[in-house]
Amino acid sequence: MRINTNYQNLEQSYLFANINRKVAEFTAANPDKSIIRMGIGDVTLPLVPVVVEALHKGVDEMSKKETFHGYGPEQGYDFLRQRVKEYYEKIGVQIDLNEIFISDGAKSDVGNILDLFDKDNTVLVPDPVYPVYVDTNTMDGRKIVFMEANEANGFLPLPDEGVQADIIYLCSPNNPTGAVYNREQLKAWVDYANKQQAIILFDSAYESFVATEDLPRSIFEIEGARTCAIEFCSLSKTAGFTGTRCGYTVVPKDLGPLNTMWLRRQTTKFNGVSYIVQRGAAEVFTDEGIRQTRENLAYYMRNAKVIADTLDELGIWYTGGQNSPYIWLKCPNGMKSWDFFDFLLEKAGIVGTPGAGFGTQGEGYFRLTAFGNYENTVEAMRRLKELL
Ligand code: MLT
Repeated sequence: MRINTNYQNLEQSYLFANINRKVAEFTAANPDKSIIRMGIGDVTLPLVPVVVEALHKGVDEMSKKETFHGYGPEQGYDFLRQRVKEYYEKIGVQIDLNEIFISDGAKSDVGNILDLFDKDNTVLVPDPVYPVYVDTNTMDGRKIVFMEANEANGFLPLPDEGVQADIIYLCSPNNPTGAVYNREQLKAWVDYANKQQAIILFDSAYESFVATEDLPRSIFEIEGARTCAIEFCSLSKTAGFTGTRCGYTVVPKDLGPLNTMWLRRQTTKFNGVSYIVQRGAAEVFTDEGIRQTRENLAYYMRNAKVIADTLDELGIWYTGGQNSPYIWLKCPNGMKSWDFFDFLLEKAGIVGTPGAGFGTQGEGYFRLTAFGNYENTVEAMRRLKELL
């Protein structure tokens, strides 16, 4: 037996596991200190009523012989895929039912999709970046090329014709920076990818936060994307499914063999999302489901405004917080990311995510999430003002 030695090239632990460990150590040493978590982007509001009702019905069905479900289709039940298709139609995007694959979330699919690609491909990722893109390719030993996302380009790097890439990762609205590509910028990426015969792996997990008219929510709103892009979506943030687990991935048939290869991969290695969860997920896309989940998103965006207003007041540079639940700020007084993490935790009991954890270009920056409860967010910002 020989182990996959590529694992030796990974950071010792996953970023958020690392933060959890640090916070656990701090709370063990300071049991009376009140901690406000604004680190990992985990939702705090419960599932909306239409989803809960559908989940209950799903359980009832599973409890009766006549309506019981065993193995389901690996790519998801048609009743849910049909709803996803209609959701895309609302933004003018036409997708075939068999281009939609239901999954247990975007994170898993973003990693699993790499089964379809040779290890010799060159991967292009922005820096800073959601660590999963880098870690999953490191596990496979692929060559990774980084493109700088920085204040000068608004944390939205554009293609460089001089750089050759086979697999390109884009995330918009972006995790961690909250920056959002407009149509022209995404079109530049689509043209570049088609020219290079590259594939864009487009992480659209935060699409439902886009509120500004005319910002794209799907890469398939861009002409030419069907021949160069796969899109990953998730109900985690859209509908509070971080613990329930459901997402969907769109693999266009215009991508040559990739659609059938993904089906082959999923039918072999995946048994689908549970019937009960898919019943709940299907309600997210109904008019009432959209209305109820958008109420939750508005709650989070109110938190984002509280954070943004505080940073404005303190004169701290930031991006995000609009069309995104993440606020990406410059650490005050030239502090380094992990130093600011320790400083905030120790002096104010606030947990955030150090920008350096998302890549070298993230050094000196810090990410706060708007997914907490309102009162805690207000209190955290009061503490921040007092501290700074
Ligand atoms: C984050 O905080 O970056 C996200 O919650 C991580 C994830 O969605 O996997």
